Amino acid sequence: MNKIVNKSMMGVAKRIMMCRPTHFKVDYSINPWMDEKVQADFEKATKQWNTLKSTIEKCGAEVVVMESEDARDYPDIVFCANAGILRGKKIYLSHFAFPERYGEHVFYKRFFDKLGFETSFNQKIIHEGAGDALWCGEGMNILVSGVGPRSDVQACEDIQQKIKLNADDKFYVVAARLVDPRFYHVDTCFCPLDENLAMAYMPAFDSVSQNNIRNYTELLPVPEKDARRFVCNSVVIGKHVIVHHGSDTTFKLLEKHGYQVHPIDMSEFMKAGGSAKCCTLRLE
Ligand code: ARG
Repeated sequence: MNKIVNKSMMGVAKRIMMCRPTHFKVDYSINPWMDEKVQADFEKATKQWNTLKSTIEKCGAEVVVMESEDARDYPDIVFCANAGILRGKKIYLSHFAFPERYGEHVFYKRFFDKLGFETSFNQKIIHEGAGDALWCGEGMNILVSGVGPRSDVQACEDIQQKIKLNADDKFYVVAARLVDPRFYHVDTCFCPLDENLAMAYMPAFDSVSQNNIRNYTELLPVPEKDARRFVCNSVVIGKHVIVHHGSDTTFKLLEKHGYQVHPIDMSEFMKAGGSAKCCTLRLE
């Protein structure tokens, strides 16, 4: 029998979505990193976003930009990792936990409709998309889904039903409970590098979830000081890792495993509690 692989998530990333930070600012505080008194510098943020985009392109992936002029009320929409969870041409759109971001789903739906995706949206269950759900493990068929701060455990079964491609499609959703408020989305503390390896700050998960994750992937442990710099919030394109600068311990570890690290500055987005990976969504 052929091994079932998650075609759009296996191998080197080819197409990545980014949302232009047209109205980006720190307008409210919905995670421990956000403080309205510590405002992001808009010009600097725009430059940083452009550098992230060109670095992704240099590493060989195409960037598909979602414009956001009419999303004036949604300063966090730049964090499009939270748009939804993809499998092939299906997307499970996010139902945001906080009212501040709830309405973003309308813009994401419009974008994915245009790209020809089949979208689903559950009014009843909270889940924050690929910011809180990452493919890893054999065939990239294990979806590690964050549970607690932003996503409900009930979503696991719903996701399973809604993004299954056909009767033979097989994948598993593993609930991973997040217990450290600083790491409120699974992509702030866990980063699959390929189907066998991920980097992670494991104390962000409860002990049962730590064991569950270890069943599916080898782990490169990152120290707390690097986790705080959001080293796990990296964009991975084959052997390239694009990441906020300064996590030297982890950078050395990655290099030892054959990865080329591309440090960039994401300081302005970190004021909103996000870094490089949050500003992207892998499409293929
Ligand atoms: N301010 C945003 C929020 O709190 C940041 C989102 C970061 N996104 C992510 N995928 N970790 O929702």
